[in-house]
Amino acid sequence: MPSSTAFSPPSLLIIGTGGTIAGVAASAGSTAGYRAGALPIGQILDSVPGLAALVPEGQLATEQVFSIPSEQMSGAHWLQLAGRLRAWLGGDKAPDAIVITHGTDTLEETAFFLSLVLPPTRPVLLTGAMRPASALSADGPGNLYDACRFALAARQAGVGGVFVSFGGRVLRADAVYKQHANRTDTFAQRFGQPVAWLEADRPCWQQPLPGGMGLRGQFAALPIMQTAPTPASRTQTAISGTQVPAGTQQAETGPLSGDAPLPPVGIVPQHVDADPTMVAWLRSRGCQGLVLAGTGVGTMPVPMRAALAQTRREGCLVVRASRVPEGYVGRNTEARPEDGDDALDFIAAGWLDARKARILLQLCLAAGIHDAREVQALFERCAP
Ligand code: SIN
Repeated sequence: MPSSTAFSPPSLLIIGTGGTIAGVAASAGSTAGYRAGALPIGQILDSVPGLAALVPEGQLATEQVFSIPSEQMSGAHWLQLAGRLRAWLGGDKAPDAIVITHGTDTLEETAFFLSLVLPPTRPVLLTGAMRPASALSADGPGNLYDACRFALAARQAGVGGVFVSFGGRVLRADAVYKQHANRTDTFAQRFGQPVAWLEADRPCWQQPLPGGMGLRGQFAALPIMQTAPTPASRTQTAISGTQVPAGTQQAETGPLSGDAPLPPVGIVPQHVDADPTMVAWLRSRGCQGLVLAGTGVGTMPVPMRAALAQTRREGCLVVRASRVPEGYVGRNTEARPEDGDDALDFIAAGWLDARKARILLQLCLAAGIHDAREVQALFERCAP
């Protein structure tokens, strides 16, 4: 347990990135046809009065890093966000806990990316909403309040790393996925159990965290962020007495401004009559790695296997994942050894879905890891 002085008084940073939690519809009765990312983070906080009781005055900072509907999320946004978070976490007085508001559509991908590139020194919780801030039935205020108290409780329990807080539970960044397009309890875990929950009004964290969360912070030392001019749209308030992270006034760490983006990795969706020529096309677009969202346990028909084997021979890394929402993709599940991963030098995604596998492969490539066995070993560190 950390010493009590470390979180007395607690300080909290809330970062806004847009999404439905910041959305505005034409009327209070409407939950569709709204503008996601319309409200700045400061205005969202006005709808969460309980925050003042969680964090003393002057101990709450906010920052609007960008404001987008999350289907617009890109690798450049991730690098920009990770750069800001690294600056805060590495500052001389890092906040005790960080909460990020984010659209739900790609929240699971951002959470996994951040979980790999940030040091797990402080809790960083992403949250969002399925109903716009203007709706009578808005779920954002409750989700944001819960995320803040889960984050502060995590710090108190000595838990660090990136998680998703939604619907009164905290889910693992490597396992979380959006399971429903409309319902407010939209997030589930592909494997394992939620790591925190509310008991009556008390946030409870699983202690210790599951051993299979071994990838947290794996790429925290990767020098992927660079200095770029501060966008005029970004606004910030500082925690009182806190040194604003270096570069905040004139510059920030990230985005990469096009000179060193994340290595391109594509997803090949398998379905009846899927066209295997898309493999060569993705390769011609510069993909250095491909992830098959295969049927069942990452299976594919003969022509798709031939196309992927050919691209692997040409140097492109190939991961077999599954299009099925839950379950495990192990190595060498084919009947004929010559079709197996050992023979073709493929990687099996294990517990990760195709979207998460894509991110892990991107970071492996960014770190200069090109050996399929080395990449496989990293995939295997992620387990229930
Ligand atoms: C988005 O992802 O930005 C829109 C959908 C949502 O936040 O629920």
